[in-house]
Amino acid sequence: MPENILTIENLTVDFTVRNALLHVLRGVSLEVIKGESLVIVGESGCGKSVLLKSILGLLEQNAKIVAGRILYRGNNLTSFQSEKDYQKIRGHEIAMILQDPMTSLNPLLTIGYQIEEAIAIHQPLRKVKRKEEVIRLLTEVGMKDPRKTRHYYPHECSGGMRQRVVIAIALACKPNILLCDEPTTALDVTIQEQVLNLLIHLQHKYQLTVVFITHDFGVVAKVADRVAVMYAGEIIEVGTSNDIFLDARHPYTWSLLASQPALYVPGEELIYLGGTLPNPQEEIQGDAFAPRNPWALERDFIYAPPYFKLSDTHQVKSWLMEKRAPKVEPPRIIKEYYQLENWRF
Ligand SMILES: Nc1ncnc2c1ncn2[C@@H]1O[C@H](COP(=O)(O)OP(=O)(O)OP(=O)(O)O)[C@@H](O)[C@H]1O
Ligand SMILES: [Mg+2]
Repeated sequence: MPENILTIENLTVDFTVRNALLHVLRGVSLEVIKGESLVIVGESGCGKSVLLKSILGLLEQNAKIVAGRILYRGNNLTSFQSEKDYQKIRGHEIAMILQDPMTSLNPLLTIGYQIEEAIAIHQPLRKVKRKEEVIRLLTEVGMKDPRKTRHYYPHECSGGMRQRVVIAIALACKPNILLCDEPTTALDVTIQEQVLNLLIHLQHKYQLTVVFITHDFGVVAKVADRVAVMYAGEIIEVGTSNDIFLDARHPYTWSLLASQPALYVPGEELIYLGGTLPNPQEEIQGDAFAPRNPWALERDFIYAPPYFKLSDTHQVKSWLMEKRAPKVEPPRIIKEYYQLENWRF
């Protein structure tokens, strides 16, 4: 029986910007299973980063969690009042890796010093042992010549090396959960692949639970056990990798799958989702996706759909899943491409 390590219930987050209230997360419910790799996808601005930041209490001052709970090992993280509360879990229980490694590194300190600092906080080791651990961790994340490179400052490292250092710092804290917010997006393609392989290797070796944000379905196919699709501050479809790649049911998920560059055939029209995300200032009536949904039903514009459970693993928030709804088929190109299992790398 899979065990949940993190449970997010109805998480609702507003931001205030010049007296305007932005509804950014609109009731996110998501379970993270111990040891899995869960990937969150969705277009820019749908709330993926805000979701991960809320777990670790890293939201900006103008954000407010207005409803919901985040349960981790008997604690409701949304009830934490102070930085001190969050420090008990940050790094040590749940660590985060961001797109730009420079935001996590101090430019004035050597990388070896920064890894050693993390070790000192999280592991009771003497100084000599700590130095050995720095070298072990740098080796583990694939840094060449760690005895020498540990004396480097971040600016002396390439982007890929810096991201390896950030991963080493995360490992030094011995976390249970690793939150990765587009950790390879800023790297060039070959380095992306290496860093991704490193993360997959470390996940298995240390039995980490990984929550991963990406825009790239190649990355999803490579890392995901399960996929959660986000739209306008909600999870609209969630399932195993197979559920999503082979049997996606939400038209928004179809549009994401269909917009992958691999599906582009020269001379044919690019499959493209029109319109934009709803304005986060406005109250949404009905299904947030309805105005962009070619298959929208009348009731989509009036009532928000519930989650329909298609199987133990697959849930979809769309009225199209209702028994009486018209049967709709995904675009032919998706069926052909994914069912041929082209997406398995
Ligand atoms: N500090 C803030 N103040 C006001 N609005 C914010 C703030 N942080 C995020 N938002 C808004 O919240 C929404 C979701 O932002 P978020 O960064 O989570 O998007 P995302 O899904 O991670 O997008 P991307 O794929 O581009 O990283 C956006 O509309 C964004 O403008
Ligand atoms: Mg983001």
